[in-house]
Amino acid sequence: MKFFIDTANLDEIKEAYDLGVLDGVTTNPSLMAKEGISGEENIRNHYKTICGIVDDKVSAEVIATDFDGIVKEGKALAKIDDKIVVKVPMIKEGIKAIKYFHSEGIRTNCTLVFSAGQAILAAKAGATYLSPFIGRLDDIAFDGLELISQIVHIYQNYGFETEILAASLRHTMHLVKCAEIGADVVTCPLKVITGLLNHPLTDKGLAQFLADHAKANKG
Ligand code: E4P
Repeated sequence: MKFFIDTANLDEIKEAYDLGVLDGVTTNPSLMAKEGISGEENIRNHYKTICGIVDDKVSAEVIATDFDGIVKEGKALAKIDDKIVVKVPMIKEGIKAIKYFHSEGIRTNCTLVFSAGQAILAAKAGATYLSPFIGRLDDIAFDGLELISQIVHIYQNYGFETEILAASLRHTMHLVKCAEIGADVVTCPLKVITGLLNHPLTDKGLAQFLADHAKANKG
């Protein structure tokens, strides 16, 4: 299972990378805006900086929504660094563009996926990654994890090579459940990854071990 961090914040990306378990980064226009990154050149430079931190797989999202625009923007993003994966929205023009990028050997991440039907289309078009948004489905009382199960089942039926990148994770249980279900990748905020570390019995046990050691080694 791959771990991507879902942020454009450089400190958080470094912290996750330093933990030694990070496989990639996903960004989106909202996350870039949150970091105050705007303007074509600044955006490009920010992606370059992120690519300088991690080993591979940095999703950079297009803004265009027409085929020609998506292709132009996606090609420009892919030229920034070999680590870039072009993130394309799940819309008609996006599917056409994913098919085109696939034929050109440019990796894609199909984003804003909320149904199994959309997942089938993206896989048929040759998306490298598929991003179903679990948390946003849960927010509106649909079962996001159920969608992940459904897509895993469908992709297994046909041997689709598109990797299921569970996105919009809100908490560590989402991540653990995705692992049980068999999502290929999860992308989440840093706190969801570091949240996996926590267990009160670990803290209690460690405190006891250290106290016993200190007592036995006094003076
Ligand atoms: C990642 O690719 C998505 O853009 C992201 O996970 C969306 O998460 P959110 O629903 O927390 O905004």
